Amino acid sequence: TYAPVADVLAGKYGVDDTVTIKGWVRTRRDSKAGLSFINVHDGSCFDPIQVVAMNSLANYEDITKLTTSCSVSVVGTVKASQGQGQALEIEAQSVEVLGWVENPDTYPMAAKRHSIEYLREHAHLRPRTNIIGAVTRIRNCLSQAVHRFFHEQGYFWISTPILTASDTEGAGEMFRVSTLDMMNIPRDDKGLVDYKEDFFGKETFLTVSGQLNVETYCAAMSKVYTFGPTFRAENSNTSRHLAEFWMIEPEVAFADLATVAQLAEDLLKYVFKAVLEERPDDMAFFAQRVNKEAITRLESVVNSEFVRMDYTDAIDILQKSGKKFEFPVEWGVDLSSEHERYLAEEHVGAPIIMQNYPKDIKAFYMRINDDNKTVAAMDVLAPGIGEIIGGSQREERLDVFDRRLAEMDLSQEDYAWYRDLRRYGTVPHAGFGLGFERLVAYVTGMQNVRDVIPFPRTPGNAQY
Ligand code: 4AD
Ligand code: MG
Repeated sequence: TYAPVADVLAGKYGVDDTVTIKGWVRTRRDSKAGLSFINVHDGSCFDPIQVVAMNSLANYEDITKLTTSCSVSVVGTVKASQGQGQALEIEAQSVEVLGWVENPDTYPMAAKRHSIEYLREHAHLRPRTNIIGAVTRIRNCLSQAVHRFFHEQGYFWISTPILTASDTEGAGEMFRVSTLDMMNIPRDDKGLVDYKEDFFGKETFLTVSGQLNVETYCAAMSKVYTFGPTFRAENSNTSRHLAEFWMIEPEVAFADLATVAQLAEDLLKYVFKAVLEERPDDMAFFAQRVNKEAITRLESVVNSEFVRMDYTDAIDILQKSGKKFEFPVEWGVDLSSEHERYLAEEHVGAPIIMQNYPKDIKAFYMRINDDNKTVAAMDVLAPGIGEIIGGSQREERLDVFDRRLAEMDLSQEDYAWYRDLRRYGTVPHAGFGLGFERLVAYVTGMQNVRDVIPFPRTPGNAQY
């Protein structure tokens, strides 16, 4: 067995205890006095631990050839550190080299600062860097906190499918999944591709959202959520769009928009607090290297009340702002990211829960308000990134729902099972989707969602 570096640095072993650690060399320097100082990391915490190797070790010559990312197994004694930095270090009894780095001069991840774009091009090696290591621990901390939050509140985690026939958002941004042989593609009598001949006997896609599926469980289990990968074939090359991203989608029965607006606020505060408490090492790094306010803004969000604002009032604010926007503002338009950012960053300076959007720019399942013009929808807009949550109260009234389907030229047949939920014991219910990468980007201050998911999928890029 071996000890995680995090445990050794946290003082879980006494001074003069013997421990084994295993990891990778970050840096090494030799002193004239016949000592080699090796910084070893194993991913368990932000800091590497310093290993001091003396020239009395049998393989000392090998040790002085260690370069960044060589893998080592070290047996040694825990000591109080003389130098500045860590309080504890390891005095080596043995340093076994497990794997050398061939040709260190051309090793792509040599210990210097690389641009974030360069790291993206080496997605298989970038986990070894400080910055991606820190992102990875924060990402893990956030997903654990999400599950904990819902578990503590009595929600059930529902595994919704990835393969589906439904276009939840109705935006036509779905990846088709097919086993048809494109060279010998079957056609129906109109000459169209005959998906009845395909694996599922029906045209099938990767899901854009687990919402419709999770609603079925909501209509029996009351409080549920799904947390999984979702896919969007939208051709947006922006810093906040991925073709494959993870989404957290709670769905609550006997609830209205105000209930889930509060749930969204509570969830965000809960996970921000978890990160501040559990990962101060990584957050200190982000505050130092990525965004000066990484920690302070989370602290202030945790202690603030989110502003609730009506879409109609937001349009008014934007029009009166005197700002020149690329996309002109008038009632009925969808808010673009420049509008969202103006409102969250300049007007309020904190997250906003924007509510009651025009029905024409929103999905078919959202509940129509009494004004017949707007729906009970909400977006949570965060400074620095814009929309991180989209949600709504769902239309639970069958007659109103059917009228909306007809208005939008959608067939009752395609939504037969979804309509059943309104036919058999319908209840008011509401939910939302939190984009997990946008959450990680917001927490860390990272500018691009491509750098907070291990293997980003974007137009033209599905390497690795
Ligand atoms: O607003 P969206 O499209 O809402 C839904 O999918 C609903 N069915 C959710 C629900 O009510 N259960 O997406 C929700 C969130 C967005 O606010 C955003 O954070 C994220 O998902 N998102 C993306 N993240 C990364 N890349 C993309 N292409 C994204 N599209 C949406
Ligand atoms: Mg949205």
